[in-house]
Amino acid sequence: MPDTPVSPTLLDRLSAILGPRGLLTDPADIAPHLTDWRGLYQGASPAVARPASTEEVAAVVRLCAETRTPLVPQGGNTSMVGGAVPDESGRHLVLALTRMNRIREIDTADMTMTVEAGLVLKAAQDAAAEAGCLFPLSLGAEGTATIGGVLSTNAGGNTTVRYGNARELMLGLEAVLPDGSVWNGLRRLRKDNTGYALRHLLVGAEGTLGVVTAAVLRLFPRPRDAAVAFCAVADEDAALALFRRFRDRDDSAVRAFEYMSGTGVDLAVKHIEGVALPLESRADHYVLVDLASSRPDAGLRDMAEAVLAEAMEAGEVADAAIAANEAQAQKIWRIREEHPEAQKREGASVKNDVSVPVSKVPEMIRRCSAALAALIPGSRPVPFGHIGDGNIHMNLEQPEGMDPAAFLARSHDIMDCVNAVVRDLGGSFSAEHGIGRLKTDMMEAWRGGPELAAMQAIKRALDPHGIMNPGKVLP
Ligand code: MLT
Ligand code: ZN
Repeated sequence: MPDTPVSPTLLDRLSAILGPRGLLTDPADIAPHLTDWRGLYQGASPAVARPASTEEVAAVVRLCAETRTPLVPQGGNTSMVGGAVPDESGRHLVLALTRMNRIREIDTADMTMTVEAGLVLKAAQDAAAEAGCLFPLSLGAEGTATIGGVLSTNAGGNTTVRYGNARELMLGLEAVLPDGSVWNGLRRLRKDNTGYALRHLLVGAEGTLGVVTAAVLRLFPRPRDAAVAFCAVADEDAALALFRRFRDRDDSAVRAFEYMSGTGVDLAVKHIEGVALPLESRADHYVLVDLASSRPDAGLRDMAEAVLAEAMEAGEVADAAIAANEAQAQKIWRIREEHPEAQKREGASVKNDVSVPVSKVPEMIRRCSAALAALIPGSRPVPFGHIGDGNIHMNLEQPEGMDPAAFLARSHDIMDCVNAVVRDLGGSFSAEHGIGRLKTDMMEAWRGGPELAAMQAIKRALDPHGIMNPGKVLP
């Protein structure tokens, strides 16, 4: 560890605030908090603060403000962009929120749930289900990611197409601001036009403007009818045409609509036990359609059959399987959800979490795939993801037999190559994974000018000493 500028006195004061369970200083206990989920960064820190209440968070932040100690808020540590780990300097204190995991209230009349930041997303979904409701945010890391983390990154995931991103699922927030003051904005109002929406500034700020400690989340009626289909489609245009068919038939029933390439599905089948193609023959393009309704008599299976029959007639769909039960539906979802893991097992891969207007997705996939194949001959594009949101993970798998390190050394060229196409199509270089540390150097080129200047002014106003998650989001 580098010489630690976090003084022993500071650690003593933290220990007095947090008690023995609330402060980790043993390097073995700290280690899991220092590396990110993707293994891109190896940070250093003398301690991990683990407050158990909002008051304790506030006391820690006040102490850090007084001593100008940088703080890195951390939830489940599943950031895809190194947003939740400290840098290598050893000057940053990690603030882990995972002990703050209480459900404060569920209100089925207001359809809200008030929960603490460290609550794991899956636990929030389960609590909503137990109350007979749905909390719809759903993503691969939901068994580990926390509510504070998904709000701080405005996470998207699989159900954005129907329910919106994390931002749209939040009505109120409680947060500790960078001076250590506690802001209680736990209002559960559908309408509240009272000046700047501070809650929306904190959502997506990735911990750079304060620490989210609790939130009021929106609940929905639980689904009583559902249907999941896995379809082989002719090409990227056919995937989009099928999305439009379902959307036009019943917008509110489309809970998720995911694209997968033949390469990605092949890798999932090859590497993940229990994953199998539910169709007779292989295709180059697939989609997963997930329909749900709170109406028990919605007839979604019949609807899926009818729409797929029309699409087959039109030559868009070659073959399709509709899950006969929940177990089959889960098997179909695994093909999609195991995409990241399968890519990892195949070798080195580079992620490009990009978005374009929905209508431009087919062109984006085709142009990026061609440009990437020209950039690194033999490399394998694995585009997959949330086509209904215009958000595709335009990932690239290394060529077979290439040295993984040599491939990863080209990461920035690969990202630049994809981003050039995305920019030309009016898209974004980070659709749902955020900026973190990985993409700060892209902010100037993409958001420079008045937009970035306004962000920097907000940062200076709220965090004049720059102690909140330094080195993240802003260049
Ligand atoms: C997903 O949707 O599975 C993740 O956001 C994508 C990824 O691992 O690139
Ligand atoms: Zn995704």
